[in-house]
Amino acid sequence: AAAPANQTAGFLDCLAVSLPPGVVYTHASRSYQSVLESSIKNLLFDTPSTPTPVAIVEATDATHVQAAVRCGARHGVTVRSRSGGHDYEGLSYRSVLDASRGASFAVVDMAGGELRAVHVDVSGRTAWVGSGATLGEVYYAIAKSSSRLGFPGSVGPTVGVGGFLSGGGFGLMLRKHGLAADLVLDAKLVNAKGDLLDRAAMGEDLFWAIRGGGGGNFGIVVSWKIRLVPVPETVTVFTVHRPRNQYSATDLLTKWQTVSPSLPNDVFLRVVVQNQEAQFESLYLGPHAGLVAAMTTNFPELGVKAKDCIEMTWIQSVLYFAFYGTGKPVEMLLDRGPTKPDRSFKAKSDYVHEPIPSHVWENTWSWLLKDGAGLLILDPYGGKMAGFSPAATPFPHRQALYNIQYYGFWSESGTAAAEKHMGWVRGIYREMEPYVSKNPRGAYVNYRDLDLGVNYDGDGVTSYEKARVWGEAYFKGNFERLAKVKAKVDSDNNFKNEQSIPPFPN
Ligand code: FDA
Repeated sequence: AAAPANQTAGFLDCLAVSLPPGVVYTHASRSYQSVLESSIKNLLFDTPSTPTPVAIVEATDATHVQAAVRCGARHGVTVRSRSGGHDYEGLSYRSVLDASRGASFAVVDMAGGELRAVHVDVSGRTAWVGSGATLGEVYYAIAKSSSRLGFPGSVGPTVGVGGFLSGGGFGLMLRKHGLAADLVLDAKLVNAKGDLLDRAAMGEDLFWAIRGGGGGNFGIVVSWKIRLVPVPETVTVFTVHRPRNQYSATDLLTKWQTVSPSLPNDVFLRVVVQNQEAQFESLYLGPHAGLVAAMTTNFPELGVKAKDCIEMTWIQSVLYFAFYGTGKPVEMLLDRGPTKPDRSFKAKSDYVHEPIPSHVWENTWSWLLKDGAGLLILDPYGGKMAGFSPAATPFPHRQALYNIQYYGFWSESGTAAAEKHMGWVRGIYREMEPYVSKNPRGAYVNYRDLDLGVNYDGDGVTSYEKARVWGEAYFKGNFERLAKVKAKVDSDNNFKNEQSIPPFPN
């Protein structure tokens, strides 16, 4: 085999002859660093020791993606795709796996040109969306075309379509409409050979795998055809704060666990638990009277009144939850965020199938007082979610009552701060183990967590048995099927990362 240096040189020559000038950035390019940082969201992975790509291809159409994939396959250089750059572990732009075997990798950035376009078909209630668009850009384009259509995407508007749909994707309308990936009707993907395939050409197995099986596994999806959903003229939101001592927030959390997954599908009621307070946030698809009635009937203890509720259009509700406030201009949805990361974060996730006893919630308050404490986000399932079989898509957690995200964040630099905040996240996660899903303990692939395991030993060789450990946490019984699809479409494992689906062993 060629030495890595020769491989890299051959790869860069290949890119130079296959792509137009101005599309490829190498370490020698003046703007390499700013292009690299443009969509990094986690400061943890923007350090001098972070392994960086030998080249970043700022692709603007599918042919650029195809060329980069072909050059990578020919010269043994791994090509990773980056859409919105939100990967929790930075796997779209850093590669510990390649660094560990002394190899190079490259990034195809999808955030430009046609790869970022959104084409809405109002009468057909569909849209073709480039992977490099953000969900904010999707919401904006839909709202410009119709006030009665929407899409159940992420709460954060800067999240990229490519990674979001690849991992399932959920937001404030999941109880009404399910996962975002449930609404994918077609997709265009560049496979390991560099061919561009639509749904008919890729076949139903691969089409199943790319809707929730995780990003970076089966190819690079350049665009997606999504079904838009009807939204009412008026929706209602509220945010109510329930401090621990002023209200019995412990009792509210305990009751919330069984109430929120069984509310009418038009009601979404999540909780953010931070400091010594539970913050209940709701989106209701209709005028406020319906929301007040649903709360009075099902959850009177929460004490929600008409005066807590704000009526608005659906697109305003998107802005409300993204930026916490009313009257924000819709153009804010087009802001892709800072051009350089400004904070570090670490998250872990759980699924809950049996309500957690109230003494556990009571104990959680002391965790939230600790130095380095972060927050918990509780997202209820039920409704439409529960109607899907766990094998309908790779995302298996359909029957859960709710998802917990443990989230730590900090802006100080240095390892002491990182260890303190990550230690908090890992500590509370350990503490919750007896009360959450088991055998395996489930996790959400879009909240990527390398603590769950990686594929390889020091030599960079991927192992199916190692991958099963994290793979079954994310995908349960669907993991094996994903590995079988992988063996069919990418047996050489060209698309790989620290936590990528390995080909099923022969
Ligand atoms: P990024 O570009 O980093 O890609 C993520 C992974 O997918 C990488 O492995 C990458 O190689 C691969 N990939 C990227 N583009 C691809 C393509 N075109 N084809 C194939 N693979 C591709 N989640 C959620 O469900 N609901 C939410 O409300 C939120 N909110 C949220 C807010 C914030 C601030 C963050 C940081 C994250 C979230 N998330 C979320 C999690 C989010 O869904 C997850 O991080 C997605 O993978 C991000 O997709 P990006 O394209 O931005 O990431």
